[in-house]
Amino acid sequence: MVTALPRIGPHRLAGRVILAPMAGITDRPFRQLCRRLGAGLVVSEMVTADRRLWHTPKSRLRLDHRGEPGPRSVQIAGGDAAMLADAARVNADNGAEIIDINMGCPAKKVCNKAAGSALMRDEKLVGDILEAVVAAVDVPVTLKIRTGWCASSRNALTIARMAESAGIAALAVHGRTREQRYSGEAEYDTIADICSALDIPVFANGDIESPERARRVLDHTGAAAVMVGRGAQGNPWIFREIEHFLNTGERLAPPGADERAAVMMQHLDALHALYGDYMGVRVARKHIGWYLAGVRGGEQGRRVFNRIEKPAEQRRQLAMLLADALPLADPDGTRAA
Ligand SMILES: Cc1cc2nc3c(=O)[nH]c(=O)nc-3n(C[C@H](O)[C@H](O)[C@H](O)COP(=O)(O)O)c2cc1C
Repeated sequence: MVTALPRIGPHRLAGRVILAPMAGITDRPFRQLCRRLGAGLVVSEMVTADRRLWHTPKSRLRLDHRGEPGPRSVQIAGGDAAMLADAARVNADNGAEIIDINMGCPAKKVCNKAAGSALMRDEKLVGDILEAVVAAVDVPVTLKIRTGWCASSRNALTIARMAESAGIAALAVHGRTREQRYSGEAEYDTIADICSALDIPVFANGDIESPERARRVLDHTGAAAVMVGRGAQGNPWIFREIEHFLNTGERLAPPGADERAAVMMQHLDALHALYGDYMGVRVARKHIGWYLAGVRGGEQGRRVFNRIEKPAEQRRQLAMLLADALPLADPDGTRAA
């Protein structure tokens, strides 16, 4: 079944499967890879709204969007309406085509400053932030929320309505409360209620790790798209696989060993290039570990890879693993579960 692709302001998305923002993960190399493999939209890792911190190496790398296909969606996080508006303006001036406001992240550092999902407890502040950011920029502003703070305070529908009235162009909803963090299962009933109440596109998020689950969530909620986070770790092919299933009702064949090897190697090279030797090898351990998870012999390969300190040596080791040790075509079928 083929339905119209969602729009965010003037931007028609390239597909109905969106890469969720994940701090420390959805950097430029990973975003580019996911776009190439079928993500309809990618969102950057959150950058703090506090511009005094933008000179740090971490913020500078997060603000790096060179060579990325549009629309570029930049997520900002903070708890002060004026500061968020200012950060939105500067990011838009620097080329962001969509500004995404983070009200979904449970991370301590963010929440201690009453930012991320902690904001959902203060509806007045939410309203101030939405209005200030929408007024500050000409580009569309999107919002990402959870279902609420805790089971007894599930106010996502109220905030969703406020968002639409304030001029938010699209809303992503993670089907968990802040209190749940990442435990338990995501629920989609709240997302369905929000979809019925709103005219703007809503993106359903939480535990979408297979094409079948994506289909079920879209059918259950009426969402315009699904947003995938952890399911893409070590599996950037998930975007084209879900998209294909949504369009045809059939499963796409998993990537062959050659393609998997080529993608992993390109990903490794891109991480080394962006982060340099020291950080590059460390960030690469995380991603390569995910690629190897669930593959026979992968655990042993990962342990060896994690001890390596030099980019060239990581490259050599990965090439060796890919050449002879690992049957990377996933003979266990673990990825298809
Ligand atoms: C490591 C990690 C980092 C995350 N960082 C962010 C972030 O910067 N901004 C945000 O809005 N959500 C962040 N999230 C939440 C994800 O965007 C997503 O809502 C959540 O993981 C649920 O989706 P999933 O089940 O598909 O992973 C993060 C999640 C993880 C696991």
